[in-house]
This record gives sequence, structure tokens and C-alpha cells, in this order.
Amino acid sequence: MTLQTLKVTVDDGMAVVVIDRPETLNALSRQVMDDLDAWFAWAASAPSVHGVLLTGAGPKSFVAGADIKQFKGMGPEEGKAFAERGQAVFSRIERFPKPVIAVVNGFALGGGSELALACHMRVASNTARFGQPEVNLGIIPGYGGTQRLPRIVGKGLATELVLTGDMITADRAYEIGLVNHVFAPEDLMDGARKLLRGILNKAPRAITLTLEAVFASDLPIERGLQHEAALFGQACATEDFDEGVDAFLGRRTADFKGR
Ligand code: COA
Repeated sequence: MTLQTLKVTVDDGMAVVVIDRPETLNALSRQVMDDLDAWFAWAASAPSVHGVLLTGAGPKSFVAGADIKQFKGMGPEEGKAFAERGQAVFSRIERFPKPVIAVVNGFALGGGSELALACHMRVASNTARFGQPEVNLGIIPGYGGTQRLPRIVGKGLATELVLTGDMITADRAYEIGLVNHVFAPEDLMDGARKLLRGILNKAPRAITLTLEAVFASDLPIERGLQHEAALFGQACATEDFDEGVDAFLGRRTADFKGR
């Protein structure tokens, strides 16, 4: 696969995907969106990929938002299509069947913050800054920010962030539950790897089913619970379930096969 704007390495099931446009602080051009879409579509069923760390190139920025150059002269129809395209790409990431962790190494602004929100978890360096500055440009978040931010940090705080456009520090992002862990910059990648490795040591089918069940938490609770029960049933049909229970009862470490 030819990817013009991403650098991808895969090691022992763990893919590190780096958005690589440091000269624009990794702004999301049309090409970046196409590359993300193509790679995540491919990786969803690639047996070599068990989980993903998504980050930005350079010491300064995760992603500083949509590429503002694209906005010049954009009309209403084009704007709607622009938002729909971004939403589709980010929904593909949110629905990715294996864990995706945003490794936020600097600015996560606008579409960059929305990209992090579409990942299943977020970790950040203590130099990271989060914000939805769209109102400064006379627009609104269009890649899911008005929908995912309230679901993650609550409506009141999300409303303040999208209305003021203010940036918050990594420590504040941790305080409000926007990021799961904050690390010193030099420890960020190792911390993210350790978190993902711990997850990848579990039964892979159970991980996929769990992600799907958590996604259903946006449904009304009765439907979410029905979904959870159906997925629980599916987990009981796996070989790894037999192995996990046998290993526990036999006081040994489970040897999961992903079946
Ligand atoms: N789109 C396109 N280019 C961007 C960009 C974006 N979202 N964000 C930064 N860049 C470019 C700058 O134009 C600059 O390019 P240049 O060197 O050719 O002039 C380069 O990246 C470095 O950015 P600069 O602004 O010089 O760095 P800074 O340290 O002074 O400020 C930010 C950093 C992140 C505060 C500032 O770049 C910024 O506010 N970016 C826009 C953030 C934003 O509004 N995103 C939401 C878009 S909806």
C-alpha cells in the first residue's frame, strides 16, 4: 500500500502509525484523510496488526487540525461534504476491531483533538495541548467533536471547550478524563507500548467483542445491555474462552490463540 503522509511500522502485532507532515504540525490534508482511511480499512482484517498506536511526527504536535489552506473559499455544500468525509474516516477508526490508542505528543487541536477522540483511548505527554479552536475561524468542529467530546468529558465542560476555543494542558485533560495517562515526553512511547502490550496479551476475540460492547454504550441502556448479552454469548463460543477458564482453574497462564 502506498501511503504518502503516514509512516507505519508493525512489530509483534503492534502497529505504530505516524502522521508525517511536521512542516504543517501534521495538519490533516485531504491526502492524510485518504491515507488514514486506506490504512485502517486494510488493517482491520490484517492478521499482522493486533493493535495501533497513532501519533504525530516531530516533538511539537500530534495534529494541529484540519489543513486550514483547504478552507479558503469553501462553500456550504463543499463544507458539508468535507465534514461528512472526515466523520466517515474517524468513524472507521472508532469502529476499528482492535484497540487504537492516540499517543498525543504535542498540539491536538481541532481535527487533531477530534482524531484523538475517535481513538479508543488517549495518552499524552505533559507538553500536549488540547483544544477545539474552530470558533476562531468562524466554523464549528465538523469531524465529530461536538458529539464525542461531550460523551467523554460531559456536556458542560465540552460546551466550554468548543465555545471558548481555549487550549487545555495535558494535566487538565487528565483531570477531566480526556486522557487516560500523562507521561514525560521521553517516556510517552514506552508508556503507550506498555499499555497496548498488556491488552494484546489478552484473548483477541474478547478484546474485539469488548470494544464493540463499549461502543454500544452510546445506545439507550436497554439496547446496550441486549447488545452486551449477545456479545457475551459470542465470547462463550470461542476456543480462547475454554482456554482462559481451564488456565485459571489449572493455575497456569492462558495461551490464547485468537479463535
Ligand atoms: N493547517 C495548516 N497549516 C498549519 C496548521 C493547520 N491547521 N497549523 C499549523 N500550520 C502550519 C503553520 O502555518 C506554519 O507553517 P509555515 O511555517 O509555513 O508558516 C507551521 O505549521 C508552524 O506553525 P506556527 O503557527 O508557525 O507554529 P506556532 O508554534 O507559532 O503555533 C499553533 C502553533 C498550533 C498554536 C498554531 O500553528 C495554530 O494555531 N494552528 C492552527 C490550529 C487550528 O486552528 N486548528 C484547527 C483548524 S479547524
